[in-house]
Amino acid sequence: MNPGLKAWDFCGWRGLRTHANPFLKYPALKGRVSAGGRMKRIYLDNNATTGVDPRILNSMLPELSAIPNNPSSVHYFGQEAKSRLNQARETIAAFLGVKPQEIIFTSGGTEAMNLLLRGFFPKEVSGHAITSNVEHACVFQTLKHLEERGLQVDYLPAGLFGAVMPDQIKAAIRPNTRFIALTAASNETGVKHDLDAIGPIALDAGIPLIVDGVAWLGKELFKVHPGIAGMGFSGHKIHAPQGTGFAFVRSSLKLSPQLTGGIQEYNLRAGTQNMPGIIGLAKAISLLKTELPDATHRMAILRDKLESSLLQTANPVIVNGMGPRICNTCNLSFPGVQGDELLIALDLAGIAASHGSACSSGALEPSRILTSMGLPPQMARSSLRFSLCRDTTSEEIDRAITVISEVVKTLRNLYTATVQKE
Ligand SMILES: Cc1ncc(COP(=O)(O)O)c(C=O)c1O
Repeated sequence: MNPGLKAWDFCGWRGLRTHANPFLKYPALKGRVSAGGRMKRIYLDNNATTGVDPRILNSMLPELSAIPNNPSSVHYFGQEAKSRLNQARETIAAFLGVKPQEIIFTSGGTEAMNLLLRGFFPKEVSGHAITSNVEHACVFQTLKHLEERGLQVDYLPAGLFGAVMPDQIKAAIRPNTRFIALTAASNETGVKHDLDAIGPIALDAGIPLIVDGVAWLGKELFKVHPGIAGMGFSGHKIHAPQGTGFAFVRSSLKLSPQLTGGIQEYNLRAGTQNMPGIIGLAKAISLLKTELPDATHRMAILRDKLESSLLQTANPVIVNGMGPRICNTCNLSFPGVQGDELLIALDLAGIAASHGSACSSGALEPSRILTSMGLPPQMARSSLRFSLCRDTTSEEIDRAITVISEVVKTLRNLYTATVQKE
């Protein structure tokens, strides 16, 4: 069988526009980026999702048995489930330094952020909100939608630094500002907002600060700053399953529920709780308690090694996002290379990374975050994000450095040869 076709079949980029397929553009690439038959794949896309930790899976299994476990039921089984639910809530609250009744279980980060933002408007949408122009889609698109319905939104420019400065926030506050919505750390660049400085500004102004904590959780230890009124979190970025997450809603923050029905989750999120998911989430959090900050340290060393090595071996390379970053993420531009082609070539060579997002035509668009930061389009198009997890090994990073350098070099040479021929 044609080896190109075989790879095409098992890789996820069948739907991409054809010119993103580097084999069509550079037939000479065939056979030069394959990792061979018994390839051990290296996963460096942990900001997209993480594998489920077997310890977390095991903690969930009893909840997936024949024993009924609706925590709203008044009988023995229900009350037993309720006690496990309360325990999970307490574990998570203690980890964040907040009250158990301030934890609202949701289906993930997107739902948590929707609750925290849309919940401000039980009826008509009005007033003003402050955010950055590097927010995840769950904040960006939600605010865009609220904007259409009457909210005035300032999308403050994060610039090449990758995060908005506290002074920009201060200057944007208006008498009718309803909330400030910021990501704790960008999932694209890893750059963090300075919540220790922004929290007091929000507190002084009496404006709720709503934080997307999805990319931050699991990367370093933190307690929720008193200036923060609400945060959203996701389980599948910390080795718990997809479809799990929670919102921290400070008791002083009055929100309207986005899902109506039963009185579960303090009347803020109707629907029978996902008990297996919640137990897994609490286990994931208790693992963070014991495994951070060692894991933070390990991820930082490996990420820095990957980055500093590629800066030399794949030169020229540009690191996107100049601000302080979480420990696991690096976003790099490789001038002279198309990011979507690099992504596919690396996938064939056994390395999973990320580049932008698929748009409706099936093409890969360069990351909105990078273009919003002011990267020239060509630079954004040549970028790739690598994100590690606590299980990433030193051997994997060594292999990734070798493979990425070789593939970048090959693509650059083929590009130069093609341009010279034309
Ligand atoms: C920073 C950030 N916020 C929010 C989300 C959404 O979380 P979920 O996938 O649980 O809805 C993600 C997921 O990629 C993310 O990276």
